[in-house]
Amino acid sequence: MRISVVGSGYVGLVAAACFAELGHDVVSIDNDAEKIGRLQQGEVPIHEQHLPELLARHRNKKLTFSTDLAGAVRQSTAIFIAVGTPATNEGDADLSYVESVSRAIALGINDYKIVVEKSTVPVFTSNWIRKVMLLDGAPADLFDVASNPEFLREGTAVVDFLYPDRIVTGADTARCADVLRQIYLPLTDGSYYRRGDRVAVPAPKNWPGAARIIATTTKSAEIIKHASNAFLATKISFINAVANICESVGADVKEVCEGIGSDSRIGNRFLSPGVGYGGSCFPKDLKAFRHVARENGYDFTLLSSVISINEEQRARFLRKVRTALWTLKGKKIAVLGLAFKGGTDDIRESPAIEIVKSLLKEGCEIRAYDPAANDRAREVLPSQGISCYESAYDAIKGADALVILTDWSEFAELDLDRVRATLTYPIVVDGRNLYDPAVMATYGFLYYSVGRPDVQPARRIEKSEKITAAVTGKVE
Ligand code: UGA
Repeated sequence: MRISVVGSGYVGLVAAACFAELGHDVVSIDNDAEKIGRLQQGEVPIHEQHLPELLARHRNKKLTFSTDLAGAVRQSTAIFIAVGTPATNEGDADLSYVESVSRAIALGINDYKIVVEKSTVPVFTSNWIRKVMLLDGAPADLFDVASNPEFLREGTAVVDFLYPDRIVTGADTARCADVLRQIYLPLTDGSYYRRGDRVAVPAPKNWPGAARIIATTTKSAEIIKHASNAFLATKISFINAVANICESVGADVKEVCEGIGSDSRIGNRFLSPGVGYGGSCFPKDLKAFRHVARENGYDFTLLSSVISINEEQRARFLRKVRTALWTLKGKKIAVLGLAFKGGTDDIRESPAIEIVKSLLKEGCEIRAYDPAANDRAREVLPSQGISCYESAYDAIKGADALVILTDWSEFAELDLDRVRATLTYPIVVDGRNLYDPAVMATYGFLYYSVGRPDVQPARRIEKSEKITAAVTGKVE
């Protein structure tokens, strides 16, 4: 099948590369000529596992890059819209890019095509796309609009695409549903997985051998996307609220999570408390879903609570850092993690960035390290008071405390003796619960995490008497 994917951001680029991997002929379109030029030359603009291999494998063969939207549309049977839908000040999604792309697609409709929303959009968007395309002269019988939401997580997007829990295809005509079914056939009939060595990424454990497709109406598909993200974010805010209660009573949220999550009706995933959710999806999608509900006469107060718990979580974490350090002004703080989660260079709505900004406002000196997001973070953080380093140990050297803000796996595998020896004071405030408190105590740390009791060093502290005194309240 000939496919165009409009928008070469996190979603569009992964989708384009993966469609090519499934054997389709794909054109990735963007109006940013410089970006297209870089993609043509072999550059990979985002940090995403397996994406470089996929691009290298299919570039100039099954996958080409272009700025010519109308030309690509004319040659394609399916056009996926994967452009940005940023939030407006009112919290709803700004669909102006979707609208202008839809109008441009209308001009290229010369035989039957399907236009598929891949960007996260509110319910009724498919109706709007159809309306504007008709207004721009696309013949009614030559196109259908579908919704095919993606459930990719940044950092594992390629694996999520090729080995999905489910594929949701929302279409309102049998013809349109059939084109979507054909596109995903290699995944749903399992033929892709039987290619053996020729699959780009090996199957995850317990992979059933074929992907499940759920065919719905377009409106249901649009709601499925928003409701999925809203539910996942609700789980996170729920466990953060539970973690806060655990802190008040001295319980351990990790034990509590095990107890809750082992109920198969609940499940143990997305129950990690921390500094709150961030990223380009949850914060924006929750507000957009709440907005859609309101517009349609329903006040979705649950989502308002999810959002406010999430915002409060960052403020609580800052208070934790203050508790650990007493005064903040002039303190040197090593910060590990700037991206909104591990495995990505994306800093959009990153709790880490907000927390760093607040620490800078309090007069702290920040020594930051992120394996992938240093450069992007530099663009949005003030230039004064912060230095970014090329390794965790460089950032930690000579700092008064270590603050962990992103769950990169390398941060969970630090050489604790080395950290202890290089920090001026053995204080670790862990916003991602990467370490076992008992282990941290044996390594000689004052360790603060989320929803678990703080621990004191199990052995003598050499340099931190002053801080211990502050923490225990025995200040002269
Ligand atoms: C999310 C969804 O997981 C994807 O299914 C969806 O396709 C995507 O949004 C989207 O709409 O495009 P993503 O934003 O890449 O994916 O990241 P997640 O792994 O879901 O994490 C989101 C945030 O929640 C991160 O800040 C993460 O650190 C946080 N989180 C996640 C927690 O605080 N606790 C958890 O247990 C899980």
